[in-house]
Amino acid sequence: MDTRSKTLLTGVKPTGTPHIGNFLGAIKPAIERAQQFEQSFVFIADYHALNTVQNGAQLRELSHSIAATWLACGIDPSKVTLYRQSAVPEVFELDTILNSLTPKGWMNKAHAYKAAVDANNAAGRDQDEGVSMGLYTYPVLMAADILLYSADVIPVGKDQRQHVEIARDIAQRFNHTYATDALTLPEAFIQEALESVPGVDGRKMSKSYGNIIPLFASNDEWKKVINRIPTDSTAIEEPKDLSNCVIFDIFKSLAPPEQTTALQARLEAGGIGWGEVKALLLEVLEAEFGQYRDRYYELMANPDHIEAILHDGAGKAAVVARAKLHEIRTIIGVAQ
Ligand code: TRP
Repeated sequence: MDTRSKTLLTGVKPTGTPHIGNFLGAIKPAIERAQQFEQSFVFIADYHALNTVQNGAQLRELSHSIAATWLACGIDPSKVTLYRQSAVPEVFELDTILNSLTPKGWMNKAHAYKAAVDANNAAGRDQDEGVSMGLYTYPVLMAADILLYSADVIPVGKDQRQHVEIARDIAQRFNHTYATDALTLPEAFIQEALESVPGVDGRKMSKSYGNIIPLFASNDEWKKVINRIPTDSTAIEEPKDLSNCVIFDIFKSLAPPEQTTALQARLEAGGIGWGEVKALLLEVLEAEFGQYRDRYYELMANPDHIEAILHDGAGKAAVVARAKLHEIRTIIGVAQ
């Protein structure tokens, strides 16, 4: 794809700090990809988070944390527009417009809503218990996020593919209804690599398994996490079996290849114990991720600086959003 004339956009729900699997599988590739595009937008989806985070101080803190994460991981705010969804209220007007074009049945089929209904049915509760209108119409707001900026490429995890398809369907319906091509049809860019980092128990690294290595942690915290990795009782001098060896698999997915090759040779020869391997893994974490961690804490200590960057981003985003909304208002026949 010729990315020079295309627009990339992605939203991040502020719900917590990332782990190493998130960084390698999602954040890093999205940042690399974002910098290749003519225009890129990364925003904090704070109104999407509002369905679950209903505490002002907490939402503010989580939003700062997401901004600090992306900045610490290398996003260049002069190339990529970084902003809060809530700072560009044009999106909520487009949300209302799109609501009137979106069949209710599409929402019934959206996976997050369906999962909530299935859980309620299984527990013998009313099918809509605990379901807010915000959760129900989540995909429409997401479509507004995307269509307001005429985004072509949407980097997301697999679980968001359906939402991007709904955005595309809504855009198509709008264009058909008004005989226009005003709305750009977006396409999801799925990061498959998300699978590749094993957690401390050897399963895929995932918050829900409780097996993560946090991206932003002190060396002591990292050390504690590493100590949870199970190892066998092979004696120091004996050669180690590297099939299904969790600590070696983690090392391999994080360290530069030449370090992995060197460690593999030592393990297969014997003469190195698991304690030393754990110390080497800590060194790898520090070498590979320490810089991001340090930068993250620096940014978090300076919320005014984060706010200034977000404010600047919102200003740039609003220029694009206002022009598009004006075009849409003209097409649908409301006040200009
Ligand atoms: N729903 C996305 C998630 O939970 C976040 C999001 C909101 C988003 N709006 C978006 C992602 C627009 C891409 C484009 O991960």
